[in-house]
Amino acid sequence: MADTAKIQVDGKTVDLPVMKGTDGPNVIDIRKIYAEADVFTYDPGFTSTASCESKITFIDGDKGVLLHRGYPIDQLAEESSFLEVCYLLLHGELPSAPQYAEFESNIIHHTMLHEQFDRFFQGFRRDAHPMAIMVGAVGALSAFYHDSTNINDPEQRMISAHRMIAKMPTIAARAFKYFRGQPFVYPRNDLNYAENFLRMCFSVPAEEWVPNPVLTRAMDRIFILHADHEQNASTSTVRSAGSSGANPFACIAAGIACLWGPAHGGANEEALNMLAEIGSVDRIPEYVQGVKDRRYRLMGFGHRVYKNYDPRAKVMQKTCHEVLAEVGHQDDPLLKVAVELEKIALSDPYFVERKLYPNVDFYSGITLRALGFPAEMFTVLFSLARTVGWIAQWKEMIEDPAYKISRPRQIYTGSGPRDYVPFDKR
Ligand code: ACO
Repeated sequence: MADTAKIQVDGKTVDLPVMKGTDGPNVIDIRKIYAEADVFTYDPGFTSTASCESKITFIDGDKGVLLHRGYPIDQLAEESSFLEVCYLLLHGELPSAPQYAEFESNIIHHTMLHEQFDRFFQGFRRDAHPMAIMVGAVGALSAFYHDSTNINDPEQRMISAHRMIAKMPTIAARAFKYFRGQPFVYPRNDLNYAENFLRMCFSVPAEEWVPNPVLTRAMDRIFILHADHEQNASTSTVRSAGSSGANPFACIAAGIACLWGPAHGGANEEALNMLAEIGSVDRIPEYVQGVKDRRYRLMGFGHRVYKNYDPRAKVMQKTCHEVLAEVGHQDDPLLKVAVELEKIALSDPYFVERKLYPNVDFYSGITLRALGFPAEMFTVLFSLARTVGWIAQWKEMIEDPAYKISRPRQIYTGSGPRDYVPFDKR
């Protein structure tokens, strides 16, 4: 492709530079289009607009590729650990052994919350949705850690990144315990990240919690699979909030609020509900017919970007089988429905023609349920894992000299200018 694109408006030609990334489609730089041609561009939902330059994550939806800093997600999920992926996303390279040891120790030793913070939870109604608690509690971190809210200080930016990665499991586990009506469990520095989180969720004073390596590895892998996903809705929200100079804790709270929506983080709960509604393998043909009649959609299928397959879904399917075997649920009727439904859908022309494949959410709900989490916690776990992606993208934005406050334009279609009419004349 040429280095410039031409656009003609009212007989006037404007040359626009074409930007080339390492991979992916070229991008037409339209920044001067308003100044030179007096027009805006229209792109609701930003489906054709690159909002930033980024070196963090690359997705090729047609080929089913997801890379973090160049490394394929399946390799990271199989061979790495969540904290190593955190380091990679934040710093751009895999850590050396000493770098990893220092990073891990840094995170593991900052998992406690200010003791006064615990009183904050008591203000929520006893049946508060854990995501409502997450939005409030993470935003409240800025009231406790004033010493890391100066966004112009690189050291404070890194400290706030470490703090959030370290404290998010503690906040998420407290949201769960509060929702369950159980006492809070304090973190322990001798456990790894996933073990610590599972213990804070499932340990009770009446019974010691013993880590199960298959389940903690599965938890860690689920965190890896959700760590980042390019400029999705919640990440764009974090960047947008941060573009005004807001502190990082407030920005991550904004990301959590966006993730809460069913079109974003809530899909695995919907997929689990759908499998329960189908209930048994013999009801699948009837359900699939309903999808073809457009009465409902197959939840956990299809993706805005992946039109070949979702590379995370394969890892998730394997993890699901491992977890269910470990907890003795391999005969779970929902798993049988999921496996059969996937088989049928992948060979049915209706789904094949529309390039509909299982996405990461298809198997994650069953897996999380087998790990012991209720559906209300699914999006909380997603937000815990995505925090590193959000904070890495926020840091990248602040460090980018080209960054500007997010301020889209519009096509105004309301009334033209008119004079105010007093009450007695309306
Ligand atoms: N079940 C049945 N048909 C579907 C599905 C589905 N899950 N998804 C898309 N289609 C069909 C549409 O009816 C449409 O058919 P048509 O061309 O005959 O009208 C065609 O496929 C294209 O659909 P679009 O809505 O244009 O596809 P889009 O890329 O916009 O949608 C989305 C992506 C929203 C994820 C969609 O596939 C969907 O609703 N899936 C179910 C919900 C889900 O699992 N979401 C999780 C996404 S992954 C994540 O957020 C982590």
